[in-house]
Amino acid sequence: MTVLVVGSGGREHVICAKLARSPLVTKLFCAPGNGGIAKLAQCVPVKATDVDGMVEFARQNSIDFVVVAPDDPLALGMVDALQAAGIRAFGPTKQAARIESSKIFSKSLMKKYAIPTARWEAFTQLEPALDYVRRQGAPIVVKADGLALGKGVVVAQTVGEALDAVRDMMEGGKFFEAGRRVVIEEYLSGPEVTVLAFCDGKTLLPMPASRDHKRALDADMGPNTGGMGAICPVSDYGEALSARCMETIFRPTVDALQAEGCPFQGILYFGLMLTPDGPSVIEYNARFGDPEAQVVLTLLESDLMEIFLAVEAGSLDSVDVRWSSRHAACVVMASGGYPGAYETGKPISGLDALPGGVCAYHAGTALQDGRTVTAGGRVLGLTAAADSLSGALKLAYLGVDAVSFEGAHFRTDIGKRG
Ligand code: AMP
Ligand code: GLY
Repeated sequence: MTVLVVGSGGREHVICAKLARSPLVTKLFCAPGNGGIAKLAQCVPVKATDVDGMVEFARQNSIDFVVVAPDDPLALGMVDALQAAGIRAFGPTKQAARIESSKIFSKSLMKKYAIPTARWEAFTQLEPALDYVRRQGAPIVVKADGLALGKGVVVAQTVGEALDAVRDMMEGGKFFEAGRRVVIEEYLSGPEVTVLAFCDGKTLLPMPASRDHKRALDADMGPNTGGMGAICPVSDYGEALSARCMETIFRPTVDALQAEGCPFQGILYFGLMLTPDGPSVIEYNARFGDPEAQVVLTLLESDLMEIFLAVEAGSLDSVDVRWSSRHAACVVMASGGYPGAYETGKPISGLDALPGGVCAYHAGTALQDGRTVTAGGRVLGLTAAADSLSGALKLAYLGVDAVSFEGAHFRTDIGKRG
């Protein structure tokens, strides 16, 4: 089959690496791809958010199957548009993707179907939102309703901070339309864990749990980022917890989306907080996490293409998905300044002399005159597997030591807690 992957990050690189290995895939394209993906797939300059351009490219190149990996094209209805053109596509429809693209939709769904989550209220008017913050007190969490590059959440420690966040979003136009409506919710505490699941609308197959590290600096300090590293599996998420999440969160979510007339086909991402009162949903995403995908898919032993096809065909109950019992770790190297302003175009050295067993999944890189240079905030995710978490981390950090580019920064404490 001829397959097209939409996206350009580390997540898309690991997806391409898995698909390139499948005997079912004869030709692989990626739009737009990056400097690392270019070694596995033919990269084409169609923007991930260009729905019409993607449909046109798929049609002209007789693409059999399209994997839509990032959030924005899913929220824009790229899967619907491809399907309407008669092209098979992996990922939720625009309606189903609202579970990520609208916090008000996802919070309302959880309320209606009694799925555990932080108490909340939604606001479309500034004054009632400010009043609510004053009445509730701090700490309190303010969330933009729409997609905001993972930056639309403010965990406010003081009432003043929360009031500023509400004003910035609703009045100041921060996050544009995404922030015109806000959700204000109760502050929860506890370890966070990500559970990704393959879902064909009815059947749900959870993957091993993983943990992202969202803050820019060691000890969870500094601003939120897209994710600075990840591990899989997670020691504080065992079988009892997994059974409880299946019963109280995973199954009810899939059933709820089906009951609402928008069955979910694709990757359902459960961002959970393990609170003293039990697991609670912090967020849903409608796709693989990045960098969670890099560690989770490293442990997948089955053919990813076969699973994608079964998800799209609604026959997930007939595939056997096998996982390695090893541990995987990913350490992200970012451009100096990220998640704030940063420079690009810095040559990257050491990629051709990585220690054995280490994969460098490219995020923000480009090929320039045959050289790999930096082209984004998160640049590379050095990823490795081993029999123990400490072994996987050791290898991933050996990978970090082997690579260099001007201004590179990374966390030195990935996986420390677990
Ligand atoms: P999100 O973009 O929804 O994943 O939120 C980003 C981060 O904000 C999460 O990973 C949590 O660390 C934190 N967060 C979100 N909601 C809450 C909450 N209700 N209580 C405490 N922390 C939260
Ligand atoms: N790593 C978090 C996310 O992809 O949303």
